[in-house]
Amino acid sequence: MGQPTPDRDDDWWRSAVIYQVYVRSFADGDGDGTGDLTGVRAALPYLAELGVDALWFNPWYLSPMKDGGYDVADYRAIDPAFGTLAEAEKLIAEARELGIRTIVDIVPNHVSDQHPWFRAALAGGPERDLFHFRPGRGEHGERPPNDWRSEFGGPAWTRLPDGDWYLHLFAPEQPDLNWAHPAVRREHEDILRFWFERGVAGVRVDSAALPAKDPRLPDFVAGRDPHPYVDRDELHDIYRGWRAVADEYGAVFVGEVWLPDTERFARYLRPDELHTAFNFSFMTCPWDAARLRASIDDTLAEHAPVGAPATWVLCNHDVTRTVTRYGRADTGFDFATKTFGTPTDLALGTRRARAAALLSLALPGTVYLYQGEELGLPEADIPLDRIEDPMHARSGGTDPGRDGCRVPLPWTADAPHAGFGGEPWLPQPAGWASYAADRQARDPGSTLTLYREAIRLRPVFGDGPLTWLPAPDGVLAFARADGGALCVVNLADTPAALPARSAPLLASGPLDPDGRLPKDTAVWLRA
Ligand code: NOJ
Repeated sequence: MGQPTPDRDDDWWRSAVIYQVYVRSFADGDGDGTGDLTGVRAALPYLAELGVDALWFNPWYLSPMKDGGYDVADYRAIDPAFGTLAEAEKLIAEARELGIRTIVDIVPNHVSDQHPWFRAALAGGPERDLFHFRPGRGEHGERPPNDWRSEFGGPAWTRLPDGDWYLHLFAPEQPDLNWAHPAVRREHEDILRFWFERGVAGVRVDSAALPAKDPRLPDFVAGRDPHPYVDRDELHDIYRGWRAVADEYGAVFVGEVWLPDTERFARYLRPDELHTAFNFSFMTCPWDAARLRASIDDTLAEHAPVGAPATWVLCNHDVTRTVTRYGRADTGFDFATKTFGTPTDLALGTRRARAAALLSLALPGTVYLYQGEELGLPEADIPLDRIEDPMHARSGGTDPGRDGCRVPLPWTADAPHAGFGGEPWLPQPAGWASYAADRQARDPGSTLTLYREAIRLRPVFGDGPLTWLPAPDGVLAFARADGGALCVVNLADTPAALPARSAPLLASGPLDPDGRLPKDTAVWLRA
């Protein structure tokens, strides 16, 4: 079994480029239409050539897939649709030989309703205490125990035939665990060890601000502090326990922490808690120079006191793909306002997404790429009868759900299903082959080539802190203290002159005939 080779660089995670693999849609090695570990192993050379430092795998464990694997039935088994545990071990070792580390995804808030604990709980065993079971309100217990709503829509409670209700902040097939129970804590620390023993270098913590609940399970009252289930203080002790386990292995965490309050957010990143967390304020920030600059400044300011590196994220498996988002009138992202049929200018969105790639790859910290981002894939429209994401059905059909960013990747332009493998589990839209990796690899102007070049050149920025340079309104220009390069991004309506005595290293689009930087374009310059 692949023990981790001693790290040349224990601080790799402070400045890494990390590629998110949604296995189900990455590459299908056995031709059944679902991506798998065989497919990932075959694509390792592609990932090495892209230049990424680590892969984050969305949950690959045994799962009924009611929420794309975020309903885990067994953390110690790989879902048979994806492969076997032995193959995961091989993959971790093979990737490491190419200098690529592995990050797995742990989902502490809930498990699958098919998890042995929940099945035993339903059978009336003491495992009930590992979840939140309660009698209902009303004369016959016909009303849920409180008024909490599921993140996917509808009540957060489901009633069982025996009359009791159980809590699920997500789908009914994802019962919430009771983190006040010591066995829940023990089990998760064991799961961490299980994967660290297999050479995993890091763990993404799903819904990291949600697992702890007010034990009284009170109704939600807007504005009342503390919240009954978001960002509760009890969480920090849990993550300190996790950190102690990770430190034994030199492994790291990245938390999925959606919190608007920057001070509360930073508490998760104290030196004895999680190492990093995703930067969702940057990800959801509209394409606007002043707002992006403020988002970057706020990010750096909130991380500094705890000594944690920032992360930069443009998209993931939950949000509208960058190319599409930036091609819309509202270039920000909000789950609450997603609808069908939003007008989109893909050429505009692509130009901006390419500029955003150079912006984020020049900033100090870690960058996350979501599979297909390097191909400039747009969000796909999924035929209604093919949408699987529970967010769609539970919204009453108004929310398109998240499948539009989860479409199987195009690898080979001239192969069936664009080289993904068998008939894809989610349909690929017309024209998908035009984004194929093989075609882009040969095209010097492609988005894939841009990402490869950017990741290769990125070290020229050095490791130092960011310094803003004087620039006209609507233009972002910065350098890094010890670096040999500048990044300039033009979001203004007029072309921008480049700083004197600087030579372009890489640009997201052509300069104009006068050598100026056009709107929605970014350039890296040698200082
Ligand atoms: C966040 C994950 O990113 C998302 O895909 C999932 O549906 C929820 N957490 C529930 O686990």
